[in-house]
Amino acid sequence: MEAQDTKQNWLTEEQSAESMETVLKKYLPEENGFQKNLTAAMNYSVLVGGKRIRPQMMAASYRLFGGQGKEIEPFLAAIEMIHSYSLVHDDLPAMDNDTLRRGKPTTWSAYGEAAGILAGDGLLTYAFETCAKAFALGGKPEQVGRAIGILAEKAGISGMVGGQAVDVELSGKPVSAEQLDFIYRLKTGALLEAALMIGAVLAGASEEQVKQMEKVASDIGMAFQIQDDILDVTSTEEELGKPIGSDERNQKTTYVTLYGLDAARAEVKRLSESAIQLLQTLPGDSTFFQHFVRKLESRSY
Ligand code: IPE
Ligand code: IPE
Ligand code: MG
Ligand code: MG
Ligand code: MG
Repeated sequence: MEAQDTKQNWLTEEQSAESMETVLKKYLPEENGFQKNLTAAMNYSVLVGGKRIRPQMMAASYRLFGGQGKEIEPFLAAIEMIHSYSLVHDDLPAMDNDTLRRGKPTTWSAYGEAAGILAGDGLLTYAFETCAKAFALGGKPEQVGRAIGILAEKAGISGMVGGQAVDVELSGKPVSAEQLDFIYRLKTGALLEAALMIGAVLAGASEEQVKQMEKVASDIGMAFQIQDDILDVTSTEEELGKPIGSDERNQKTTYVTLYGLDAARAEVKRLSESAIQLLQTLPGDSTFFQHFVRKLESRSY
């Protein structure tokens, strides 16, 4: 498996970005009724592009622990809905005030600010409506219930929303190393942790293995956000599909502003190495995962 680093082909295994599009389309809402502008904005936000990293990692974690059922599918869709909602709200004028995302106008610039807020609300809620479908797809009730709980915890106040809140609160203010670490672990790491943990839980992994996957994801998440900071200063808008210099414009302290580019690059490498080492201690073939971590480490968008 030698995945090619092109925009069309993030992964080449059976659960590729392409098959994620099929799953996503299956679970997204229909655009009808008086609220069709809302569902159109929701679908736009999700289908406009994106690397689909979180569902792909969830699927890979599920396979690593021998999962073969259908109950994973609604969770694959749900985590991408939640991730997309986090981006829709992150781009709002009251937050990062960005107008380009995934190479297209941000949801609020395309549909208006109120519709952007509501599309985010809709995606978050619909994600849980979607997860609940796993009960009827052969999922073990205690595993599905636990997976829904993990998703809620990692998306909410102890996870993504909590991290975004501190990120926004500390914009333009001095930020300590400890605070920056907290923000990254929550705003970006938590959803990746949910992805890997849910895949493991639904596949019937042991408690210890679920914990290990949480740690793997935590390293990957931290590396992922540091790389995002690096790209914000080194990439181009065309390559990234989102504005560069957004962090400086919003007076954000980032890993790059705090430690410099070289240290940031070294930390991405160190964290990726740590994730790979942990993966190697797990039973089962984690080669795919290890390749994936390498790809993320050197990603350019
Ligand atoms: C961007 O996430 C936001 C961060 C958490 C850094 P991605 O880089 O996964 O965005 P998409 O889904 O590919 O657009
Ligand atoms: C956002 O971090 C992380 C989220 C939870 C959405 P950034 O604000 O750096 O993400 P980008 O660069 O806009 O994608
Ligand atoms: Mg932000
Ligand atoms: Mg942003
Ligand atoms: Mg960024």
